[in-house]
Amino acid sequence: MSPGSTTQSGARGDVNERTFIPPAPRGAHTNARSHMETSNSRRDLVGILKLAYSGERAAAYAYRGHARAVTDPEERDRIRAIEEEEWHHRNLVGEMLGVLGERPSAVREARAAIVGRTLGLLCFLSGWFLPMYAAGKLESRNIKEYEAAARHARASGHGEFTECLLEMAEVEWDHEAYFRSRIIGHRWVRWFPLWQSPPPRETIRSAYPDEHRKPGNSGGA
Ligand SMILES: [Fe+2]
Ligand SMILES: [Fe+2]
Repeated sequence: MSPGSTTQSGARGDVNERTFIPPAPRGAHTNARSHMETSNSRRDLVGILKLAYSGERAAAYAYRGHARAVTDPEERDRIRAIEEEEWHHRNLVGEMLGVLGERPSAVREARAAIVGRTLGLLCFLSGWFLPMYAAGKLESRNIKEYEAAARHARASGHGEFTECLLEMAEVEWDHEAYFRSRIIGHRWVRWFPLWQSPPPRETIRSAYPDEHRKPGNSGGA
């Protein structure tokens, strides 16, 4: 090997040394990825909780009108109880937002009050079927919303919320089942097809074998 080639080789080596970026240790990649996943889950959790907080307000006002509009005393009592459960959910979700250091959207809050009260008033005009149908369809979405929130809570390191979120999903499941039971077999279902049935209630907890019910931590009223 000539001295020149040695120098050339040495020069290449110098260049390589200058431009070589060592790969991050495997643990560093994992930590960065898991930090990003945690932060994404937290963002998604907060997004759902903010929506749910205002959504519960709209639902509660709508049920207040709905309960007044029905004439059957049993239906009225059940819908009033559902309204109370929605207010309770709102309080629980508000507490979670507080723990996370987040605040609900003022615009969404105002909109929820207007939408909820308007829907409540419309219950007096729209007859018996439509409010029952709309409520059941909405409740089926609420189940998924709290299930997703429970997943994000666990993934973001807020496992302390999981039990409460699962209980709220179960209560929403009960609401959906009630409204479905009211309209099933109604002649208008020919024109307003039933939404897809949620999976059985037990499946809400099937992904959380370690979660246990805690007395006094009910998602219901
Ligand atoms: Fe609710
Ligand atoms: Fe509900």
